[in-house]
Amino acid sequence: MLTIAISKGRILKDTLPLLAEAGIEPAEDLFKTRKLIVPSVCGEVNLVIIRATDVPTFVEYGAADVGIAGKDVLVEHNSDNLYEPLDLNIAKCRLMTAIVTGQELPKGKIRVASKYVSLTEQYFSARGQQVEIIKLYGSMELAPIVGLADCIVDLVDTGNTLNANGMEPLSLIMDISSRLVVNKASMKMKHKSIKALIEKLEIAVENRR
Ligand code: ATP
Ligand code: PRP
Repeated sequence: MLTIAISKGRILKDTLPLLAEAGIEPAEDLFKTRKLIVPSVCGEVNLVIIRATDVPTFVEYGAADVGIAGKDVLVEHNSDNLYEPLDLNIAKCRLMTAIVTGQELPKGKIRVASKYVSLTEQYFSARGQQVEIIKLYGSMELAPIVGLADCIVDLVDTGNTLNANGMEPLSLIMDISSRLVVNKASMKMKHKSIKALIEKLEIAVENRR
């Protein structure tokens, strides 16, 4: 039995067709069910449905053998106990700094709002910029508008959210897409089934290009 951790958020609608091509179809409608563990129709896989940010934790501790998570979440989580064998090329966006349109960053230490505390710290420290990081869990775009921060570090796709809130992107930190992650011990102990899954997903990803 293979356990795969997936999240109900943005990634799910792009994940399901890939899993289907790999022969894994949930026995229930994941958009409707309140169940947190859903078996596959084939009976060989359990899907555990969790928050996007919790996927690396479940896989790291072996509570799931495999998971699907955004590169943003994976870099922020920074675990040594995960393999990342495949870029699924879904949920693509960019991690960026952003600022109120037309404004410039003040001199000296700046306040940055983000849910990516570690990534933000690394990015600015590599540039010798002193920062005070304000940890938020969402709606980062609000922070500079209400004077909580000088800028934000957040995901940008269409740019509509920044635009709608009078903000503009400043610098690209990292291109983001979702990745398949595998627990290191599972990779050894369930090598055959995980290798087969990776190969099928590779083909599915290739077919979508
Ligand atoms: P959680 O539910 O754990 O708090 P979340 O609300 O950020 O996390 P989602 O919004 O579902 O979860 O995002 C999941 C992943 O989808 C992100 O980690 C990122 O990789 C990707 N993502 C987020 N926003 C966008 C976007 N606007 N466009 C494309 N991909 C995105
Ligand atoms: C994500 C991200 C931005 C938005 C960017 O938010 O945090 O706010 O998408 O996408 P866009 O450039 O296409 O507008 P999400 O909708 O996931 O909500 P969140 O604030 O809860 O993370």
